[in-house]
Amino acid sequence: MRVGIVGLGYVGLPLAVAFAAADVDVLGVDLDEARVAAIAAGRSYVEDVSAESLAAAAGRLRASSGYAGLHDVDAVLICVPTPLSPNREPDLSALLACTRALAPVLRAGQLVVLESTSYPGTTRGQVAPLLEAGGLRAGVDFNLAFSPERVDPGRTDYTLATTPKVVGGLTDACGDRAEQLYRLVCEQVVRVGSPEAAELAKLLENIFRAVNIALVNELALLTDRMGIDIWEVIDAASSKPYGFMRFEPGPGMGGHCLPVDPFYLAWRAREFDMPVEFIELAGKLNQQMPYHCVAKLQRALNDRGTAVRGARIAVLGVSYKPGVGDVRESPAQKIIELLRELGAEVVYHDPLVASFEAVGLHSLELDEALEGADCAVIVTAQRGVDHDALAARVPCLLDLRGVTRPAANVVRL
Ligand SMILES: NC(=O)c1ccc[n+]([C@@H]2O[C@H](COP(=O)([O-])OP(=O)(O)OC[C@H]3O[C@@H](n4cnc5c(N)ncnc54)[C@H](O)[C@@H]3O)[C@@H](O)[C@H]2O)c1
Repeated sequence: MRVGIVGLGYVGLPLAVAFAAADVDVLGVDLDEARVAAIAAGRSYVEDVSAESLAAAAGRLRASSGYAGLHDVDAVLICVPTPLSPNREPDLSALLACTRALAPVLRAGQLVVLESTSYPGTTRGQVAPLLEAGGLRAGVDFNLAFSPERVDPGRTDYTLATTPKVVGGLTDACGDRAEQLYRLVCEQVVRVGSPEAAELAKLLENIFRAVNIALVNELALLTDRMGIDIWEVIDAASSKPYGFMRFEPGPGMGGHCLPVDPFYLAWRAREFDMPVEFIELAGKLNQQMPYHCVAKLQRALNDRGTAVRGARIAVLGVSYKPGVGDVRESPAQKIIELLRELGAEVVYHDPLVASFEAVGLHSLELDEALEGADCAVIVTAQRGVDHDALAARVPCLLDLRGVTRPAANVVRL
């Protein structure tokens, strides 16, 4: 069995390593020559893929920046990015470029599976016609399916093997073929009747999280005015053994998925004369959070007789969530930009993000970051940082993640 994986990022690389570990020969294709070279050198650039697991895959995993070798594999899995355009519409350019490049090397009898998140109808309406441009027919000459990636970077309790894999084929035979493939690396495969159902299932999972996070964020805005501790409220509600699921407020949503995927559906829904208001409202609320957090910091400094202008602010944790070094869509960027607009001098410490190019800063050692700081702000609670001990080291600590105990100089979201 030979598998080709196009796009060797947070999704594609762990998948490639998993297939290699299952004794499958894997050809990884990525346009980024630096990534191809890193794999050849056995150097991982994804936190969830250890140097050991990459070394163990070495005999079975090969990477290339060209598509030609994909002609010889049995199945091609597409894991390229599907971001939003600057005006927040689906940007399928990487997916369409990848599909166009794949069409000329596609061979009868192959299976193609799209793993990149997209709106319902992408596999059938966008991918199939481009692949058919070479003369082969989807569902007849080659198999085509959608199977969403559910990886949660940084998570260790559920892995690719133990997280059920949803599969929807263009035909039953396409679904059967994809199911057989994923059974090599996943304990459980969940079949749905079409690619569209699989595409929407992935979006539902992320919309569910985005909407619930927006709900607690809205409550956090209200409890701020009411003088109630939102974290105490959430802890209390979470003691109910049924009918409640814990979600936490925060400085805003980041990463490649939650701030992006819901808007793929919102965009698609407009074609059906159906504005999806929960999604739009959740987006609006979540986008407000960095502004609220900066206003809260302004008040905290004001209470101590300090202006933001000229203050030194140490931001702690800039990745979009703990355990990863990914800064895509991280709320830390907006917070740093807003603080700078107000005239603050901003430094940051994040053990997983050595440099934060979007704001032109490098991570300082914790001691150096806290040195002379008027305020420290926990934007992302990276593991290994003793957050409770921080309060004693700065005049004011703003905790946007509820990880510190209440103290006189601690302000929590
Ligand atoms: N990161 C996550 O947590 C996560 C989780 C579930 C689903 N997804 C989805 O998976 C997809 C991939 O996300 P990711 O986080 O792995 O992205 P990523 O940016 O980490 O990796 C994508 C890789 O694709 C390569 N690439 C781009 N265009 C290409 C092309 N035309 N041909 C070959 N390679 C190309 C890039 O160089 C990059 O290495 C997206 O649709 C995303 O929404 C991501």
